Amino acid sequence: MTARIIDGKAFASKVRARVKDEVAALKTETGVTPGLAVVLVGDDPASQVYVRSKGKMTVEVGMKSYEHRLPADCSQETLLNLVRDLNENADVHGILVQLPLPEHLNEFDIINAIDPAKDVDGFHISNVGLLATGQKAMVPCTPLGCLMMLREEHGSLSGLNAVVVGRSNIVGKPMAQLLLRDSCTVTIAHSRTREIEALCRRADILVAAVGRAEMITGDWVKPGATVIDVGINRIDAPEKGEGKTRLVGDVDFASAAAVAGAITPVPGGVGPMTIACLLANTLTACCRELGHPEPEGLTA
Ligand code: GUN
Repeated sequence: MTARIIDGKAFASKVRARVKDEVAALKTETGVTPGLAVVLVGDDPASQVYVRSKGKMTVEVGMKSYEHRLPADCSQETLLNLVRDLNENADVHGILVQLPLPEHLNEFDIINAIDPAKDVDGFHISNVGLLATGQKAMVPCTPLGCLMMLREEHGSLSGLNAVVVGRSNIVGKPMAQLLLRDSCTVTIAHSRTREIEALCRRADILVAAVGRAEMITGDWVKPGATVIDVGINRIDAPEKGEGKTRLVGDVDFASAAAVAGAITPVPGGVGPMTIACLLANTLTACCRELGHPEPEGLTA
């Protein structure tokens, strides 16, 4: 069997087009333009690339983009004050503080200072609790993007065995909550899980979010399963020339694609969906703030 490749790039482009239409309609009806503020502390090159790309796509869908850069040695108080200002700013409907933060800053305290209604990352403790108890929450962007692709692939997910490999607060845990909410039987596997290969082989839906290059090979995959690869790992690529690198996922694509029913590639799978969902979340946050009906299909 050769898996169908799930085209995250095309899917994300459709989601962004939908957000763009909804933003235009919202502007016409209410005169309000959704605004997203992104805060970057320090000069981590990968984070700079993400932030630039977020800003560009925010403008492309007709929203306002506010970028705030602080030096790597900024104090907790300075960052907290910026977050509080953005909470009070009526033009800002979504706030994202790019992670990871420099080590001297307390990430949890910063995230929990964001107004939960503007927490488009869904990382605030209130949103985590709302999601876990099945209430209306802001949902983390990467798991939301994965869920959208899974629903498109399967229709109903009810009763399917889902294994999420990885237990991070950003992906693994919220992904498991979303799959549970869609009535999957969910297992979270991690570095201490026993007989992890056999466990993964029982999964109808296998989500890889461990951050270890090509760890999951075809012999971990149930024939016909849907494999969602969240990993983005840069590895050496001597075949491309000396000093060259390439991006790979947490899944060994070639061997997994020979067994799976459907699979997301890296790059071009989950990655583009994350930013599309950030834009969708910003629109959702703006609609909720205005008491305007939320567009269907853009939330969990
Ligand atoms: N760093 C890597 N992924 C993310 C994300 O989804 N949100 C934020 N804020 N930082 C990140």
